[in-house]
Amino acid sequence: MYNVRKIKENLYWVGANDRNLPNFERIIPIPRGVSYNSYILLDEKNVLFDTMDASAGDLFFENIAHVLNGKPLDYLVVHHVEPDHASNIHRVMETYPEAVLVCTAKAAQMIKQFFGNGFESRMMAVKEGDTLLLGKHNLTFVLAPMVHWPEVMVSYETTEKILFSADAFGTFGALYGPMFADEMNFDRDWLDDARRYYTNIVGKYGMQVQMLLNKAAGLEISLLCPLHGPMWRENIGYFIDKYQKWSTYTPESEGVLIVYASMYGHTENMAEIFASKINEAGVKELAVYNLSHTDCSYMIADAFKYSRILLVAPTYNNGLNPLMENFLHELAARFIQKRTFAIAENGTWMPASGKIMRSIVEEMKNCTVLEPTFTIKSALHPEQLSDMDTFINQFIHN
Ligand code: FEO
Repeated sequence: MYNVRKIKENLYWVGANDRNLPNFERIIPIPRGVSYNSYILLDEKNVLFDTMDASAGDLFFENIAHVLNGKPLDYLVVHHVEPDHASNIHRVMETYPEAVLVCTAKAAQMIKQFFGNGFESRMMAVKEGDTLLLGKHNLTFVLAPMVHWPEVMVSYETTEKILFSADAFGTFGALYGPMFADEMNFDRDWLDDARRYYTNIVGKYGMQVQMLLNKAAGLEISLLCPLHGPMWRENIGYFIDKYQKWSTYTPESEGVLIVYASMYGHTENMAEIFASKINEAGVKELAVYNLSHTDCSYMIADAFKYSRILLVAPTYNNGLNPLMENFLHELAARFIQKRTFAIAENGTWMPASGKIMRSIVEEMKNCTVLEPTFTIKSALHPEQLSDMDTFINQFIHN
């Protein structure tokens, strides 16, 4: 049965929650699920903003039919062609034969690539600044390439000052009743997943996110409607400020992230002692992750949060532990910048992991990589503790 929500007069959420999908994009764990947001705005011309993941097909069409209640669907605005939003385009166009599909020219090409031909004559390609009058409401289209794919645009409704922001300002996490961020404790319950969503999905495209934020800065926004997660009608500046920080690779905290890999627990023991000593040295905000246990999407998110990152890994096959190697390549792929790294290695006969970790992080822009590497052979011993203190002192005061 339909499950729709009234967001404001004439604006309805017709989306769905997904608590079954284990990994977003079949890669990133989403233990709190995800929502696929889709909206209908009723006016002289009725508009559906984006479709949805294939998994929610039937519910989605019940939702649309309930809100339209026999009225025609005049436009389908497609902001983004990634299949978590686009999988039902064909079915919408078939079900509502009077509907015109509004998207960028690039999106039109991608729709054809994904879903084949069939409704070219009912497509309207729009460019930056084009408008669409719906009656009382009026849409202006704003291009947002690479937030998160090249075809993306957002829509600004000028009468009620609503920004339909596509993937931007989205978050992992299924909606659970409340629809607005101001009805939740967002900072406590959602921010970590919002950061993990941003950094893993669009973290690489900070420059393009900055371009969108600069355009948005010229708009008065009373309601923000993203494609995932809650809507924003209060304190929107709080979330925009987070996006400012994340897209400029500016740390939110002067704390320390410790990421370690360990085979038999000796490198782990070193990482644990590092955490204790760094805290005793005065650092209050720390996060410690075991790469064997936690998906690296969590560490990528915290690498964007903290200013200092300590990498701790054993040598493996005369090289670097592959979990650490994968994490560092994933981090480098997000163009992480402006961080201070410190490196600690373990090697029983020929320690090599430190050199490899260093060679990867030295390529990262505007990062400091402390010298020297802290090295243990097989296990940490008490006579190394004063060297460890010196190493920590340099790290946290750099
Ligand atoms: Fe939510 Fe880039 O799709």
